[in-house]
Amino acid sequence: WAGGVARNDAGELTIEGLTVSELQREYGTPLFVLSETDFRARARSFSDAFNDAFADICGGVDVYYAGKSFLCTSVVRWVEEEGLRLDTASGGELAVAARAGIPGADVALHGNNKSDGEIHRALDMQLGRIVVDSLDELERVAAIAANRGDTAKVMLRLTPGVHAHTHEFIATAHEDQKFGLSMAPDSTDQAGLSAAEEAVAAAIGHESIELLGLHCHIGSQIFEPDGFALAAEKLLDFLAAMQVKYSIVLPELDLGGGYGIAYTAVDSPRPAAEIAQAMAAVVRSKCAALGISAPRISIEPGRAIVGSTTFTLYEVGTLKTVRVDAPGSEAGGVGNDVTYPRRYVSVDGGMSDNPRPVLYDADYSAILASRSSDAAPQLSRVVGKHCESGDIVVRDVYLPEDVAAGDLLAVPGTGAYCWALSSNYNYLARPGVVAVSDGSARLIVRGETEEDLLNRDMGV
Ligand code: LLP
Repeated sequence: WAGGVARNDAGELTIEGLTVSELQREYGTPLFVLSETDFRARARSFSDAFNDAFADICGGVDVYYAGKSFLCTSVVRWVEEEGLRLDTASGGELAVAARAGIPGADVALHGNNKSDGEIHRALDMQLGRIVVDSLDELERVAAIAANRGDTAKVMLRLTPGVHAHTHEFIATAHEDQKFGLSMAPDSTDQAGLSAAEEAVAAAIGHESIELLGLHCHIGSQIFEPDGFALAAEKLLDFLAAMQVKYSIVLPELDLGGGYGIAYTAVDSPRPAAEIAQAMAAVVRSKCAALGISAPRISIEPGRAIVGSTTFTLYEVGTLKTVRVDAPGSEAGGVGNDVTYPRRYVSVDGGMSDNPRPVLYDADYSAILASRSSDAAPQLSRVVGKHCESGDIVVRDVYLPEDVAAGDLLAVPGTGAYCWALSSNYNYLARPGVVAVSDGSARLIVRGETEEDLLNRDMGV
């Protein structure tokens, strides 16, 4: 839950003293309710944890908030005010950054297929770093910058062969994925160089490129520090080798994002300070062993900053209960861990405002928000209103058995990759985002209207 969430004496859920029914009256549902206070606090504490851990190694850490998780003008302003930088992944995200007025020097651009237009925009905005993803792109960035008489500040994204997911990570020597430059020796290269090394050699050969350093990102929703630590070691080995072989200094190393959050009670991510300390210990000892001075470290957390700051507010509509002993009913259906009776609680949104359950089998929880209830808990499945049986918001959750149409449900942990991944499936309007701070609410992204939905249809 976001900070500042509580129940008032009447049993209604409040955020910083504002009741959910007030929020619904003012802004409608579905609605993303984001605590600005919490966002700022998480941004600061994440940044503090890493800065403390790395202070004696490289003077601190540059924290780039990963805008892909949730981005709008207000968020860019908060990020900047809290001393963080911004990671973007498209021209559209750069446009938001530009509109918010963040200095280009504090912005990074990612992407495995940047268009020439996006590269020009990055150079126009004098971005602090363009994270180059392939040899092909390196040449394009070099040529575009040279034509403009510019210098592009470049990080090279490498794939260290470490893949992490929540509790486990796997390390492989070879890479078969669309992102990044492989560190494995390339048998088709005459000198047997890896794509990563070819890119270093090519980058330092271009006058229009200023090679700042190396980058990697090993995955998302990761709980344990081991994968980050292993990737850091691999990149430091490579960085040291390149510095000797090519007589260069690579002053920066970005270890990406991916820090996990708790979506349900079974998730227990490590505190940021613990992860930061573990990563710092590895960087410290590896640099000492290699006899190099540590590069400036940066990271790119998205979910860990915004994920838990937000809940989605839905209104309950249709209810139905499926009983396995009902005449003609069949056990099974969508989701195999079927327990009966199962009550289906339909809400006024669904996979269009949160596709993560459909895409990743992601688990969420839900609570009755508009009132408290002493009714017995009943196993429920919260579903959306889309024309797909997989349109599930919360697979299994106990809700009071008196939940009825018109009640409000709150689903926590929807700050990251929900609004960002939202769609207009079935011509549903995308919900707005309201930010709450100091006991007042402010719309930071307005919800779509039917007019918005019809606007781009040429009507011919
Ligand atoms: N840096 C890079 C290069 C990335 O690709 C990503 C996420 C991040 C940073 C931020 O990762 P975070 O700290 O937020 O985990 N849609 C998926 C997640 C996709 C992540 C893509 N890249 C989901 O909803 O789980």
